Amino acid sequence: MDAKKYYIETYGCQMNQADSELIAGLLQDVCYRPTSNPENADIILINSCSVRENADRRAIARLSQFKSLKKSKPELLLGLIGCVAQRDQGAILTDKKYVDLILGPDTYRNLPEIISQAQIPYVDVNLSRTEVYDDLVPIRSSTVNAWVSIMRGCNKFCSFCIVPYLRGRERSRSPLSIVNEIKKALKDGHKEVTLLGQNVNSYHYAEYRFPELLEAVAAIPNLRRIRFTSPHPRDVNEQMLEVMRSHPNICKQIHLPLQAGSSRILKLMNRTYDQEHYLRVVEMIRTYLPQAAITTDIIVGFPDETSDDFEQTLEVMRAVKFDTAFMFKYSPRVGTKAAEMDDNIPEEEKSRRLKVVIQLQKKHTLERNKSLVGTIQEILIDGSSKKNPAEMSGRTDTNKIVVLKEGRSQIGEFCRVKIEEAVGVSLFGKIT
Ligand code: SAH
Ligand code: SF4
Ligand code: F3S
Repeated sequence: MDAKKYYIETYGCQMNQADSELIAGLLQDVCYRPTSNPENADIILINSCSVRENADRRAIARLSQFKSLKKSKPELLLGLIGCVAQRDQGAILTDKKYVDLILGPDTYRNLPEIISQAQIPYVDVNLSRTEVYDDLVPIRSSTVNAWVSIMRGCNKFCSFCIVPYLRGRERSRSPLSIVNEIKKALKDGHKEVTLLGQNVNSYHYAEYRFPELLEAVAAIPNLRRIRFTSPHPRDVNEQMLEVMRSHPNICKQIHLPLQAGSSRILKLMNRTYDQEHYLRVVEMIRTYLPQAAITTDIIVGFPDETSDDFEQTLEVMRAVKFDTAFMFKYSPRVGTKAAEMDDNIPEEEKSRRLKVVIQLQKKHTLERNKSLVGTIQEILIDGSSKKNPAEMSGRTDTNKIVVLKEGRSQIGEFCRVKIEEAVGVSLFGKIT
């Protein structure tokens, strides 16, 4: 008999990607094999994101698309997992009776048992104070980068954000299990690790805080690239920057979500820093790591954001000149503090502000990238160019994509590349 097959579709942040890899590991343990075609699958899982309303909609629409497949193949198991499952708590089953599994992010461990017992429909959205999945072995989708989740959950409760309600309280994984997982990933041929957490730098396990963990990871022999995401500006300190400075294998890139430039809005957002503090953190980063890329997240159109508040977001952007940014229109999430406020910035105005930040960011990205033209960068090849699959591409230490116009290379190889051109958001170069 052919092995049963699984198909997982993943939305949202890297934590979700890492979770999907853990689930793949669990399913392979009970002899399931992956398929890239949902029509061949015995189990389909949609690992969903609920951070903004359109993310929610996408997950639900995707489920609906599998309705006819489920009809023609009743033994197929169709599951909604992740953050939309956690938010929905099973209510979706009244409307979508063809869905079999609703699993929140802390309940994946039992998946093999659930499917073997076929207690359908099955809903489990319990959040855990301790689950970190530290003994599970992921099946990784990239051969180059290994996602390694070091903590789960979030205690920050930014007023706009649904994540703390869906991912539960912060809990960290032991340094030993993290280091062991990374050593195994290296043995398996991975070249880079990315430490993951909703609030990666609030990591705390016994006497280990984030800087101590980073140090322990940096000491792993033959590990040439370490990344981490996402840190919170409140938890960036000199000790963390000192560890980054003293270890060449810790990549010089920091994602530092700004959200808004106005201190008044930051207060309403419960971000626990103001504009001045944020700019001080940036200055500290520039002092310790002058070459570092700083990237960010920005929300426009938060309740009561005046044009003066918005102008301050632009001012901070001009002052920092982020390398790249993820930019979003504010989307109220039921259950959060901000959802109780009046969502009073009209949709057209949110769109206008979004356009303005995107345009400004494009200019800054190009400026930053142009400053690299003429330099030699070490890049790690991780795929091929989207525009021209014949051209290989890789990433610099600062996480910028470089497309190779000349020279042969293989996925997983480190190459020295002369940067020749910066166009749009891309860099182009040739192997030296
Ligand atoms: N834990 C991470 C990010 C989590 S969500 C951190 O704090 O950096 C990723 C990004 O989505 C956030 O940084 C924020 O910019 C955006 N986001 C979260 N909730 C949102 C909402 N309700 N509307 C619009 N954007 C939101
Ligand atoms: Fe959400 Fe804020 Fe926690 Fe990030 S730090 S996950 S934005 S509540
Ligand atoms: Fe989305 Fe959940 Fe991640 S809401 S951003 S998938 S934590």
